[in-house]
Amino acid sequence: MSFDFPTETIKEGEVKVVVPKLAAYKKKPSDYAPSKAPVFYNPTMELNRDLAVLALQVHQKLLGREVSVCEPLTGCGLRGARFAVEVEGVRRVFLNDIKPEAARLASFNAELNNVEDRVEVANEDANLFLSRNAAPRKRFDYVDVDPFGPPVPYLDSAIRALRNGGLLALTATDMAPLCGVHPRACLRKYGGQPLRTEYCHELAVRLLIGCLTMMAAKHAIGVEVLFSHSIDHYVRAYAVVHYGAKVADKSVRQMGYILHCFSCFHRETVSGITSPLKHVCPSCGAKLSVAGPLWLGKIADKNFCSLMEREAGGRSLRQEKRLLKMLSLVKNEAEAQVTYYTVDKICDKLNLPIPALKKVLEKIRKAGFQAVLTHFNSRGFRTDAPANVVKEIITDLVTQKR
Ligand SMILES: C[S@@+](CC[C@H](N)C(=O)[O-])C[C@H]1O[C@@H](n2cnc3c(N)ncnc32)[C@H](O)[C@@H]1O
Ligand SMILES: [Zn+2]
Repeated sequence: MSFDFPTETIKEGEVKVVVPKLAAYKKKPSDYAPSKAPVFYNPTMELNRDLAVLALQVHQKLLGREVSVCEPLTGCGLRGARFAVEVEGVRRVFLNDIKPEAARLASFNAELNNVEDRVEVANEDANLFLSRNAAPRKRFDYVDVDPFGPPVPYLDSAIRALRNGGLLALTATDMAPLCGVHPRACLRKYGGQPLRTEYCHELAVRLLIGCLTMMAAKHAIGVEVLFSHSIDHYVRAYAVVHYGAKVADKSVRQMGYILHCFSCFHRETVSGITSPLKHVCPSCGAKLSVAGPLWLGKIADKNFCSLMEREAGGRSLRQEKRLLKMLSLVKNEAEAQVTYYTVDKICDKLNLPIPALKKVLEKIRKAGFQAVLTHFNSRGFRTDAPANVVKEIITDLVTQKR
């Protein structure tokens, strides 16, 4: 088959696919070649796709039967081809893209990997495609919504196209709204207020899951978050959907707010969307800022992370080192405090030299508090110690008092 644009063949995971030759679309340094090419292909999302392969495999094994998989915004079909080739127990993969060239390339890539009998490719709007598959016997066990920008326009139909117990994977690349650079856009799209704090990437994940929770609740569907992460220019969340008004109510109860003091680093959570909010910081008396409503529940499940780690073994993934490091960090912070501190931000505010993060964690633990690293920020840590204690410990450490 020939394509009327420059292509090349690349390898990722266990597949070989034809993709647009990105070098031909980068005329000046500011050009973002994946979006300029006639069909979308982004090599930097390899880790995202690796993790999706692992999560889908764990999900399939937990279900203990063959699964049907859907990627409604597939681009060149690389992710879908990987699901068909690398994940055991995948009965069928349904791919779709609104661009005819993308659908043609995705079909070609399925054939190139000898999985054309299990991969079906459609060419229509993702919402139409998902809605056509929302009838009870057509629904999928896994839907991967991986758009350029927010996944919100596809959320409702993706939820409806999932079977009870199905896994939904969501990518959001619109970090400017989610991290509080464009707060009105975030409120409009995700229904929650972001904040430009040092833990804004965690807020981004919680806003995304919050939006999913409220959208699912409309259909009397609850969510169980199994894994989420933030890296490079995007956030990602994986949640199983459970049918039933009770479980939906339980999910809605995990919504709430995070109150943050930009003056003294104090932060606290308020459970419940309708709960009253205080406006004054109990620690220093300054005005409190509000993030939310957003998801306050767990954003990863320890056991699911361990199973993903196990699945990574023996796969010889190019990104293995980075991937295992991330899985281990996400697992270790899964049950820790909501929000994290960063040493840099505290030292900047207190005008102190920055101590080694390891030393800070040791001191906090010695003082009887919990302290764990976070995958969200290499200079960040989660602790149950109040902000004042954290500041005191860091000050003492750099002034050598203890
Ligand atoms: C970020 S790319 C997908 C990348 C792919 N998931 C991967 O892992 O390589 C987003 C794709 O969505 C397609 N798209 C945009 N709007 C769409 C719509 N309304 N319905 C279906 N596809 C759409 C674009 O053509 C593009 O190929
Ligand atoms: Zn304060």
